[in-house]
Amino acid sequence: MTLHKTAHDRERFLNPLRNCLKLLLRNGPTELGSQFAVIEHSVDNLSRLVSNLLRLARMETEETPIARARFDLSRLTQEISEYTEVMSKEHGIELKTAIDPGICTTGRKELIEELIVNLLSNAVKYTREAPMRQIKVELKASRGFAELVVRDTGIGITPEDLPHMFERFYRGSTAGSATKGTGLGLAISRKIALQHGGELRAESAGIGKGSTFILALPITK
Ligand SMILES: Nc1ncnc2c1ncn2[C@@H]1O[C@H](COP(=O)(O)OP(=O)(O)OP(=O)(O)O)[C@@H](O)[C@H]1O
Ligand SMILES: [Mg+2]
Repeated sequence: MTLHKTAHDRERFLNPLRNCLKLLLRNGPTELGSQFAVIEHSVDNLSRLVSNLLRLARMETEETPIARARFDLSRLTQEISEYTEVMSKEHGIELKTAIDPGICTTGRKELIEELIVNLLSNAVKYTREAPMRQIKVELKASRGFAELVVRDTGIGITPEDLPHMFERFYRGSTAGSATKGTGLGLAISRKIALQHGGELRAESAGIGKGSTFILALPITK
């Protein structure tokens, strides 16, 4: 079965279900509304899981080189940080930035955006219950590479989990049941970094000691 057909099937199977639920939510008996909403939520999660899996599979089999264009990584990082700040404030998290201007890289901007969004949304997700709630986003040039560092004061990562963070479906022992996730975000993110000639790594001093994710991407002058 081709990946293209699988992606098409996803739409074919899930869309009628989603449309039907929308109608039921609008017109169905009100006492069943909350149950329909739960089903709708599950359908959305399932849809996201399937689409992430397909993307990961596609990245592994993709032979055609990705279309590339130069873009301002500083500006992109700034924009994503600004809208993440709105979300993090709701959870009492302070978000600080130290972004050097004018750092450019080459690649597919929407993929790099997805990568940075993954790192920042993880930082929020795994910090929002912590006693100290801070996220710091730094971008600087270092030996021909743009170095993006996302540091949080959240739940941290155990030394046992650390080598596995980027494996597909891996959810750390500290993630627990308190947070929802498929364990695919970082696997996709690292693939994107590697496709762009960069790398992505994680550091943590352990449980409750926060986490740091470091993305390096080649600079384009
Ligand atoms: N900033 C962080 N602090 C602590 N643990 C983290 C952090 N980011 C990721 N992790 C750990 O790494 C695991 C994998 O992260 P990943 O983003 O791949 O999946 P996820 O967040 O569980 O789900 P999703 O697929 O929805 O992103 C998480 O389950 C969590 O245990
Ligand atoms: Mg995630």
